[in-house]
Amino acid sequence: MEKFLLFALLFLAITILGSSHGLDQSPKRVEKWFKKLSHAKLKMTKLHFYFHDTVTAKKPSAIQIAQANNTFQSPTLFGLVRMMDNPLTVKPEPNSKEIGRAQGIYGSASFEDIGLLMTLNLVFTDGKYNGSTLSILGHNQIFHKYRELPIVGGSGVFRLAKGSATAKTYRGDNTTQNAIVEYHVVILHY
Ligand SMILES: *[C@@H]1O[C@H](CO)[C@@H](O)[C@H](O)[C@H]1NC(C)=O
Ligand SMILES: *[C@@H]1O[C@H](CO)[C@@H](O)[C@H](O)[C@H]1NC(C)=O
Ligand SMILES: *[C@@H]1O[C@H](CO)[C@@H](O)[C@H](O)[C@H]1NC(C)=O
Repeated sequence: MEKFLLFALLFLAITILGSSHGLDQSPKRVEKWFKKLSHAKLKMTKLHFYFHDTVTAKKPSAIQIAQANNTFQSPTLFGLVRMMDNPLTVKPEPNSKEIGRAQGIYGSASFEDIGLLMTLNLVFTDGKYNGSTLSILGHNQIFHKYRELPIVGGSGVFRLAKGSATAKTYRGDNTTQNAIVEYHVVILHY
């Protein structure tokens, strides 16, 4: 009976420690993880989702926070800066299952062609990635078919991640500036 209880407790402890939203992110635990790194195997993870950038709506998810004094005379809206908290969903429909948020800033950073500087975190809120993040720092020419944005790091299950996100506009509207963008992400992490 006692043995059984012990096994049950052990099993429970392993389950809790092994699950990502119970992921221990204390400094001691993180340091321990780094010390064991030489034995860890690099793995590849692929993610696929849709990013909803809603500028014009009753409840926008991307909001202008700055501009230059001549932004609206510029053909590329140079200097326009928006802060976003955009939902990430499994399907293109806005009401499809949400798996995380894209939180950060994008700004128009090119005098010619439209090129955004994107600096954001993909904050996952579902399943085994819940509580883990990936950080993007990239150049996004939104009118090109494919845009490749570097994944420069991550946290939680994505600690030390490196990789690429490829963005492809699924639906875009020049008037409202609302867009639904398909993302494929491939990362190497431990
Ligand atoms: C816009 O800002 C620049 C740089 O600060 C300044 O030199 C210029 O006079 C400003 N133009 C207008 C129309 O306010
Ligand atoms: C994600 O984790 C948070 C915090 O631990 C928890 O409150 C939430 O219910 C989890 N969400 C899902 C979908 O598992
Ligand atoms: C939206 O604007 C871009 C850049 O000016 C242009 O290439 C594209 O054809 C426009 N799309 C539509 C549907 O008008």
